[in-house]
Amino acid sequence: MKDTTTGLGRWVLRTSQEVQFEVLETVDLLDPENPQLRQVPGGGEAHGPRLTVLDEAVDEFFGSRVRKYFSVNDSSMSYMTIPAGDEHKTIENVLRVASRLNEIGTERSGTPPIAMGGGVVQDVVGMAASLYRRGIPYVRVPTTLLGQIDGSVSAKNGVNFEGFRNRLGTFHPPPLTLIDRSFIATLPIRQIRSGMGEVLKMALIKDPELFRLLEQFGPMLVEERLQDTGTQTSKSEPGRQVMHRAINGMSSELQKNLWEKDLLRIVDYGHTFSPTVEMKARILHGEAVTMGIVYCAALALNRGLLPQEDYSRIIACAGGMGLQLTHEMFKDVDLLKRALADTVRHRGGSQHLALLTGIGQTTFVEDITAREVEQASQIVQRI
Ligand SMILES: NC(=O)c1ccc[n+]([C@@H]2O[C@H](COP(=O)([O-])OP(=O)(O)OC[C@H]3O[C@@H](n4cnc5c(N)ncnc54)[C@H](O)[C@@H]3O)[C@@H](O)[C@H]2O)c1
Ligand SMILES: [Zn+2]
Repeated sequence: MKDTTTGLGRWVLRTSQEVQFEVLETVDLLDPENPQLRQVPGGGEAHGPRLTVLDEAVDEFFGSRVRKYFSVNDSSMSYMTIPAGDEHKTIENVLRVASRLNEIGTERSGTPPIAMGGGVVQDVVGMAASLYRRGIPYVRVPTTLLGQIDGSVSAKNGVNFEGFRNRLGTFHPPPLTLIDRSFIATLPIRQIRSGMGEVLKMALIKDPELFRLLEQFGPMLVEERLQDTGTQTSKSEPGRQVMHRAINGMSSELQKNLWEKDLLRIVDYGHTFSPTVEMKARILHGEAVTMGIVYCAALALNRGLLPQEDYSRIIACAGGMGLQLTHEMFKDVDLLKRALADTVRHRGGSQHLALLTGIGQTTFVEDITAREVEQASQIVQRI
């Protein structure tokens, strides 16, 4: 086509692609009688070599059952293990996975690898799958609470790079995610609490009923690792209800804005000051998010947006589940200002700060002042 004024050629290509991916709850995933794990997304079985990537701890707890499952069901499964922890969320590990995929002869679509582990393994394998042969399908089996209620519905992956969290990454949702709640029965309690931080966030931004469940059952759910094993919880299954509501909330928010074109994201509630604290204090993601939730509740209280009664309920609910409410670093006003400035840069130059106006309700503000940062810091110090 010719540009009429310059006479030079210009070609514009426009296309769109519908994206659909499924998150399926299951039980007894590792029972050799259960066909779900060996099936290829979209139906049928793989005819060729496949790779299962396991988190180190998952290999320890579940590795022999996984190998037994595939020895009965699929003899061409290979395995590799990735060490746990965020320091292993690296491009080197992405390349290690890609090498293994290549080595065993993974095909373009018929032999999707399986990622079995927490958010770290999901992110590393997801990124490798997005790069290998320009993108192959994979199956996600999250084994942590955070991975099951948060990462499970996400389209993103990423690795840390040159000191920055998730600095390299892609959008590449797997066609199938399988959630078996029994995996988290072996999770350390600290990890359960960290995951509960994200559940609490979901309750506060849009689901008062979820918050009520946390108020009533939270401490027990943490203790039972959401397995609904106790006499008080086995019938009404609050663990299952909580997981369902958290995933519902997350998936409906993400579906509206999967590619994150809109930077006003209520799911980022509690994630404005927390990234800096998470990195500097070397605490878990959900731990830092909980502290961010509490700090932002104090900002809203101080502005008169959030009633005192709701603020007190939030503190009581989080405290009841044994979540740590704040950290020494929230005393450091300069650090908090820097954290805000960092996030503003990440959000295209605007604060886009979600604050609560009640339980289950939010508003965005763009004009938090240095004075307010300091006042909220004083409020959380009184907890
Ligand atoms: N892509 C996304 O949208 C997304 C969403 C949420 C989190 N993430 C990322 O996920 C990471 C955090 O995820 P995480 O909290 O799952 O951390 P993780 O993957 O490091 O797992 C936490 C710990 O639990 C262990 N573990 C995993 N499953 C276990 C089990 N069933 N039993 C016992 N131990 C087990 C691991 O070995 C590790 O020590 C962060 O890097 C975060 O950025 C990404
Ligand atoms: Zn988060």
